[in-house]
Amino acid sequence: MMRKLCTTIGVSVLLMCHALEAQAGTPTSATDARAGIYNSSLDARVETLLGKMTLEEKVGQLVQYSAGQPTGPGTGRTDYEDMIAKGQIGALFNISTAKETNAYQRIAVEKSRLRIPIIFGLDVIHGFRTVFPVPLALASTWDPPLVEQAARVAAREASATGIRWTFSPMVDIARDARWGRITEGAGEDPFLGSEMAAAYVRGYQGTRLDAPDSIAACAKHFVGYGAAEGGREYNTTEISEHTLRQIYLPPFHAAVDAGAATIMAAFNSINGVPASANPLTLRQVLREEWGFRGVVDSDWESVSELIQHGIANDRATAARKGFLAGVDMDMASSVYHDHLASLVSSGQVSQERLDESVRNVLRLKFALGLFEHPYADETREAEAMLRPESVTLAQRAAERSFVLLKNSPGPDNALILPLSNRVQRIALIGPLADDLPSALGSWAGLGRGEDVISFHAALAKHVGEQNLIHVKGVGIKGGSDEDLAAAVAASGKADVVILALGESGGEMTGEATSRAYLGLPGRQQELLEKIVATGKPVVLILFSGRPLTLPWAFEHVPAVLAAWLPGIQAGPALVRTLYGESIPTGKLVVSWPRSVGQEPLYYNALNTGRPADKTDLTNPPGGSDDTYVSRYIDERNDPQFPFGHGLSYTTFRYGPTEISGSQLKASELSAGLHDSTDRTKAVLTASVDVTNTGSRPGEEVVQLYVRLNGTSVAQPVRALKGFQRISLAPGETKKVAFALVPDAFALWNDRNQWVVEPEKVTVWISPDSAHGSPATVQILP
Ligand code: BGC
Repeated sequence: MMRKLCTTIGVSVLLMCHALEAQAGTPTSATDARAGIYNSSLDARVETLLGKMTLEEKVGQLVQYSAGQPTGPGTGRTDYEDMIAKGQIGALFNISTAKETNAYQRIAVEKSRLRIPIIFGLDVIHGFRTVFPVPLALASTWDPPLVEQAARVAAREASATGIRWTFSPMVDIARDARWGRITEGAGEDPFLGSEMAAAYVRGYQGTRLDAPDSIAACAKHFVGYGAAEGGREYNTTEISEHTLRQIYLPPFHAAVDAGAATIMAAFNSINGVPASANPLTLRQVLREEWGFRGVVDSDWESVSELIQHGIANDRATAARKGFLAGVDMDMASSVYHDHLASLVSSGQVSQERLDESVRNVLRLKFALGLFEHPYADETREAEAMLRPESVTLAQRAAERSFVLLKNSPGPDNALILPLSNRVQRIALIGPLADDLPSALGSWAGLGRGEDVISFHAALAKHVGEQNLIHVKGVGIKGGSDEDLAAAVAASGKADVVILALGESGGEMTGEATSRAYLGLPGRQQELLEKIVATGKPVVLILFSGRPLTLPWAFEHVPAVLAAWLPGIQAGPALVRTLYGESIPTGKLVVSWPRSVGQEPLYYNALNTGRPADKTDLTNPPGGSDDTYVSRYIDERNDPQFPFGHGLSYTTFRYGPTEISGSQLKASELSAGLHDSTDRTKAVLTASVDVTNTGSRPGEEVVQLYVRLNGTSVAQPVRALKGFQRISLAPGETKKVAFALVPDAFALWNDRNQWVVEPEKVTVWISPDSAHGSPATVQILP
């Protein structure tokens, strides 16, 4: 089951995967996160308890309600105490203090007949009280160990309140920046997405799921939610099986392989079949192919929404279809509570099927140690939060998440960033410099504005109030002519202007925030143009949960940093980065569009029969060669910045890509995909020399891409298959080697199988998805 976790990886990581392989054979709860729900010694306890349960008590374990602040449509119920005492509720969420969880738990453990504890869940997405950068930013670190540590901090804090289940990680591949939830995931790439998915799961679940500071992970939203047509929230998706297999499923598979205890079924339909009633994904792929033994939760009312989807005409049918397809637990809609018992009594749902879901829930509760330790220790709750080492980690994560998009000489011909301490007066302008809720982003757990050190506060501390002129300029949405004039006047008094512009983190990113326009909201573009027109050197700090289409800015502003929504340490992290105490190392995990019309936009696209080979096509088309190709007549095809792009304060030179052989055999590689002894065996080494050609030290994320030609199903023009982070002193050269395993050359073929086919493979080792020199290897039959 470690197959996807250990796909194509660098040499050092390969060793780690060998170690994991060894453990996977003989799982023990002390050493293997998977042991939790896969620990067969729990089965006897599960069966004994199951044998004592009435039909109503069994159904109760499959019922989940939001008992705290509702964040969406609710059931209107308020009788949770009574229901818990009767054994009618298995899980609650949106409660977030030890006092509250303990109060509900006491009813379950002391008053219900079988004393089965409640499991408490919450959307702990990028931190609990210590709020880290949003997940899209965390992924931009390309640093899975750091993400794992952030998830561990979140688990420690959340578990201190009795929350033992997070609805995270969101591992949806997102290829469209219009979709507001792009902020919650790891971007557009399945390989990077898989690495991040596994890192979150390891962090949340720790080495033992039953440790009091471990929480169960929930990989969501299964599956294809990010493929919403038009980027419009909750919209329908059409996904071919090979795109599902190659793009959307791998991060979920990685999460399952890393031991994720739960999965959440999505809102969307896939090719007409809602994901919350989808036997192909929930039964065949998840249970039969991957061997998942955990709990499948619905999304908020996603089972009752089968009616609106059009596959059920009443709530009982919705319950039956969702349940039979494989959704174990019903979040918020109450349809299982209302109908499951009678569906079983009437024989429409078998007793066997019911028992299967109840087993999954009981197994999770045993695996978490909830029967032994049902309560949170109220005396230790406060001390778990915002520990100094957690705050330090939040700062480091923010620094590593920033992506330096552009850094070219300003009006005086010198690079603007890093700022020199010689700079005397700074004008800080823009609505995001002081916006504390925005820094927290969406799904900010228990994060509070007061925990955030704003960019403004940190900059004032660094340069001294006397050297800082701060005006808001305009609001995120509004703004008057006087505001604009004040901003222009302020910039006139400064040596450098720093603009803090972007989206509102709470209102414009996250769930239900799809946007049809991706420019700067309100009058911010106007503000930007007026400030640039002053001729002062300008640095633009973009705060957003997605890439924004700002072609004018990228043409006219010399330095642009994507800061995303950086969490509680926004200010210190930004100041250290601007002054060169921290060097940017982040890289884009989404292709940055020039205009909304390019969306969905992703680097790992298919080539088409008439590819536009030139990226600098004239608009409108200039000649016949440029006309009948796959293109727009009024926009370039290539992104503003490619997937993988991100600058440093130094520069790197890549040598040619070198590979250790020129021929491989498809049959041998295919066998390596399925044979447990071979599947992590390197079959080819690819390497490159990387040199730091600048005058500062730097870190670089070196990326390896492949393209497969001549296959039975067309494959992407490039696909990421490995990455490594290296540090280089000025002038230093390092050889970076990647050990490629058979999975790097595999595809979901025309007969619906994972295989390696006879094919020509092109390999690039490069700084991003658009550059690098190619090397080829032939795979023979
Ligand atoms: C979201 C989920 C979330 C759930 C519970 C839903 O609206 O889609 O991601 O976990 O609410 O809050």
